[in-house]
Amino acid sequence: MVEINSVLQEGRKFPPPTAFAAAARLGDPAEYERLYRRSLDEPEAFWAEVAAELHWFEPWQAVREWSHPHVRWFVGGRTNLAYNCLDRHLTAGRRTKAALIWEGEPGETRTLTYLELHREVCRFANVLKSHGISAGDRVAIYMGMVPELAVAVLACARIGATHSVIFGGFSPNAIVDRVNDAQAKVVVTCDGGWRRGRIVPLKDNVDEALERCPTVAHVFVLKRTQQHVHMKEGRDHWWSDSMDQVSHDCPAEPLDAEHPLYILYTSGTTGKPKGVVHTTGGYMVGTYLTTKYVFDLREDDVYWCTADVGWVTGHSYVLYGPLANGATVLMYEGAPNHPDVDRFWAMIDRWQVSVFYTAPTAIRAFVRWGEEHPKKHDLSSLRLLGTVGEPINPEAWMWYRRVIGGDRCPIVDTWWQTETGAIMISPLPGVTPTTPGSATKPFFGVDADVVRRDGTSCGPDEGGFLVLKQPWPSMLRTVWGDDERYRQQYWSQIPPFYFAGDGARRDADGNFWIMGRIDDVINVAGHRLGTMEIESALVSHPAVAEAAVVPRPDELKGSGIVAFVTLEGGRRPTDGLVDELRDHVSKEIGAIARPDQIRFTDALPKTRSGKIMRRLLADVAANRELRGDTTTLEDLSVLQQLREADEG
Ligand code: WT7
Repeated sequence: MVEINSVLQEGRKFPPPTAFAAAARLGDPAEYERLYRRSLDEPEAFWAEVAAELHWFEPWQAVREWSHPHVRWFVGGRTNLAYNCLDRHLTAGRRTKAALIWEGEPGETRTLTYLELHREVCRFANVLKSHGISAGDRVAIYMGMVPELAVAVLACARIGATHSVIFGGFSPNAIVDRVNDAQAKVVVTCDGGWRRGRIVPLKDNVDEALERCPTVAHVFVLKRTQQHVHMKEGRDHWWSDSMDQVSHDCPAEPLDAEHPLYILYTSGTTGKPKGVVHTTGGYMVGTYLTTKYVFDLREDDVYWCTADVGWVTGHSYVLYGPLANGATVLMYEGAPNHPDVDRFWAMIDRWQVSVFYTAPTAIRAFVRWGEEHPKKHDLSSLRLLGTVGEPINPEAWMWYRRVIGGDRCPIVDTWWQTETGAIMISPLPGVTPTTPGSATKPFFGVDADVVRRDGTSCGPDEGGFLVLKQPWPSMLRTVWGDDERYRQQYWSQIPPFYFAGDGARRDADGNFWIMGRIDDVINVAGHRLGTMEIESALVSHPAVAEAAVVPRPDELKGSGIVAFVTLEGGRRPTDGLVDELRDHVSKEIGAIARPDQIRFTDALPKTRSGKIMRRLLADVAANRELRGDTTTLEDLSVLQQLREADEG
């Protein structure tokens, strides 16, 4: 872990607008203070009250059992998240309310009421059951952003099948790793998906992957793009045929609160992706409450989170959190610049979106595309804006506020992780004054601190490690199949606290400023990529001997990827090889990991124990002065060489 220096200076402050605060679910700072204190002082009573707002088939016997580093919430309770997202609303006056409003990239639209979504989910749950799937089995879902993706996810939750959603932008190799690690019995996919006017060949990718996935017995294929795909007899089934053969009567399974709801793979530092495990009851309560207060949801909101369901943001804040609250969720299939760069603004206007949640990387693209595009549309329906995924630079925040929010909408900058399941640090829009670039204050029940390596608290504005000191309901329970990795990765670096790798500082007002990852993970456009995975992909190419991957600041994506590569003897660096290597990484991991730059070198800077010094390479890649200690470097001339290559 490297030392963390804080460089950002920011003084602009925005109190909650008076009109917003007056109508907000939480608009009184004293009431907020009381609730926050109670959530920390009496967490069990606090969370029990929240959980009681939801449906349980059996009550819990204990709210929390904490045996470091394992926690159980609502012990002995039985519930069902799909029931709480659907059935609960059918008797609460939301039967005909729009649950999902969907827009396909080519422009078609579909609306599913809570009643309709409930029926589809019950049907697909019966499809899974009739193919032998039951509680505890794993189902991999590799689809585009279509309503049936929501249906598939909720159908799994309904019968207790643990879902593993695989981002539709991933390559066959990524599918193989994830399906095999989870030992999935079923894959749900589409013939293809629309992305920027082109078809992503989802089914072809599945076919290629399944040659190496022995556990998969059934594949369900939704027709979306209608091109020809190969259907393997006995294994592959059309979604619509299967749906026609079952009834829509499927009672929700009463599941143990700690039943594994899903596995979601996230990059670690050691190459192999980690299967983050979330369970049922605590995750439900955490996503429900954060959605309610952070997004200040009201009955008539049209809520749009632009994340893909392939990432945790899509799990928690496209599906589970908003649906548990009975919200109307807008879901969009495609790219923000198709057919034109004003697609999002046209959609906000068309659907009268009131709450909009997106990522800094998207906001930076909007800034670059120009404010004339949002200005063409009426965005006055918006009342609240959110951001997530990486630190937002203050100028992008200010642009978002002015151009999209009309200087009227509060912005919630929400810090959390795949592992935390739900938002951990964020303003509550009716009570928290905001400052561009700060995620501000911990959410209810979140005991966050910035500490030194020895675990002692840092002073104001002192950079340190961001830790969470108490377990929270939606936290990950383990790493799938590797509990030791769970202990090591999250609980052993700054013991006894939870630490998942971010540096931060807290200012004199108690606001948190997240400073990014302190380990070798690159955050490209809000996606966390392990440098090791990219390096492994490069080294798997026959020409490559060794590779070191580092981030370089990128105005648009947050970080770009620079790969330093040494070649196998006899291979010569050529422009053709640069393209070949970049394509190779795309194929191995996905286009998101494609290096922006490949730099050939004769040697990489290493410590005596043979560890590549990425810190120095990052300085070279960013054209910075070399910082910090170089004494552990084995051969100083290597660096000299790299710099000269740069000038040449
Ligand atoms: C990492 C988690 C949480 C959903 C999306 C990413 C960074 C996330 C913020 C924010 C600064 C942020 C952190 C975190 N991050 N939100 N508001 N400000 N940094 O999920 O892939 O698990 O990545 O994203 O570095 O640790 P993820």
